[in-house]
Amino acid sequence: MTQPSGSAKLTVEGREFDLPVYSASAGPKVIDIRSLYSKANVFTFDPGFTSTAACESAITFIDGERGQLQYRGYPIEQLAERSRFLEVCYLLLYNKLPNQQEFDDFRTSVTMHTMVHEQLINFYRGFRRDAHPMAIITGVVGALSAFYHDSTDISDPEQREIACIRMIAKLPTIAAMAYKYSIGQPYVYPRNDYRYAENFHYMCFSVPAGKYRSYEEVNRALDLIFLLHADHEQNASTSTVRLAGSSGANPFACIAAGIACLWGPAHGGANEACLRMLREIGSVDRIPEYIGRAKDRSDPFRLMGFGHRVYKNFDPRAHIMKKTADEVLDLVGSQNKPTLQVAKELERIALEDEYFQTRKLYPNVDFYSGIILDAVGFPTDMFTPIFALSRTVGWISQWKEMIADPIQKIGRPRQRYTGPVNLNYIPIEER
Ligand code: SDX
Repeated sequence: MTQPSGSAKLTVEGREFDLPVYSASAGPKVIDIRSLYSKANVFTFDPGFTSTAACESAITFIDGERGQLQYRGYPIEQLAERSRFLEVCYLLLYNKLPNQQEFDDFRTSVTMHTMVHEQLINFYRGFRRDAHPMAIITGVVGALSAFYHDSTDISDPEQREIACIRMIAKLPTIAAMAYKYSIGQPYVYPRNDYRYAENFHYMCFSVPAGKYRSYEEVNRALDLIFLLHADHEQNASTSTVRLAGSSGANPFACIAAGIACLWGPAHGGANEACLRMLREIGSVDRIPEYIGRAKDRSDPFRLMGFGHRVYKNFDPRAHIMKKTADEVLDLVGSQNKPTLQVAKELERIALEDEYFQTRKLYPNVDFYSGIILDAVGFPTDMFTPIFALSRTVGWISQWKEMIADPIQKIGRPRQRYTGPVNLNYIPIEER
């Protein structure tokens, strides 16, 4: 680590401790408490890690107060406007924008790994047809380590590299196969002449009986959704991947752990939950009823797609997605117009409501993404698998960074113990 920029004084029961403070290239400074327990015999207490930096990272920066998101220092607005998902994958993985040769080589490498081992197909048949696609991809991704032994040795940089390429290349194929399995249609093999987003849409929607037609606007919208979901600092699923990786687990197992965590409705499952909520609200005149429920502490209902641990201003991804939603719905003439109208009116009313204003609750990345995905033909239960395939590059980039971090060690939080101690065992006949 660099030299401390200062120190913080902590007094614990009359004893004073000096703790080094390190500045960051952007965002809050950190107080280094690594020696606190050994010096003061106390733990810090931070359930949900609201004030805890668990690692150093140079990949993604978020300014929650200003609603800013940057991948390797590039503002998300510029990347959304001028880049494409696969180029952002290169940026996140290698910390630089590629020149044409570097990009062409990277694209070829990813393209050459989009197929999966033919025996992997047997895993799908073990699931019921109505299994949620997230259940399927969690299981299948975890099984990849059983097929790709030549990229599980995390101490070998070359194996780490091929594991990253394989994951980025194969997740769309695995997710598309889960969709095809759930609707009883034959799997569609990827094509080397299709670009990333187009290939995924093709694997999901082409059928042997008919000619597949690709729409550039749809591919662009899908590519943008992948790009906006690519990475997001130390969110719950990324922290899961890092924690799993800190034990030395193979990269496929770590990504499977991240997929499992992402599934929750408080995290990546919110896009599916949000579209269901917008459909349940159904019309603008029912919005006040749901706003009232969201504000009622006795009601577990929350506005899906609203609020964020870090963004206490707008989520820049939601802003970009809102604009794209209009364009896509106009293009496909989707019946989703009423749902989009409900979404926009819900956003307007909520942002004028004192409850949401005081808690700084704004639409997040999941608020509009479902509307776009639905409009381009994806069923609701495919929304989170699409979030997972988008975030795979972020997970694997953060995993790579963690493995190479000299100060990283196995993650092992402590606790504030509140249970009984030193009880004597009572034989069952005396209880
Ligand atoms: C993602 O971390 C990331 O970066 C995640 C993500 C990424 O790219 O990886 O951005 C992706 O997960 C986005 C979030 C998707 N989740 C949802 O849309 C589900 C609905 N949102 C909430 O569950 C909630 O806002 C969280 C989980 C997102 C954030 O929760 P926090 O930071 O723990 O905030 P909190 O639960 O402590 O809420 C603070 C207050 C509470 O009220 P009070 O107890 O102060 O009275 O705000 C209220 C909450 O009840 N609140 C909401 C609300 N979200 C928070 N009230 C109504 N509706 C909501 N959506």
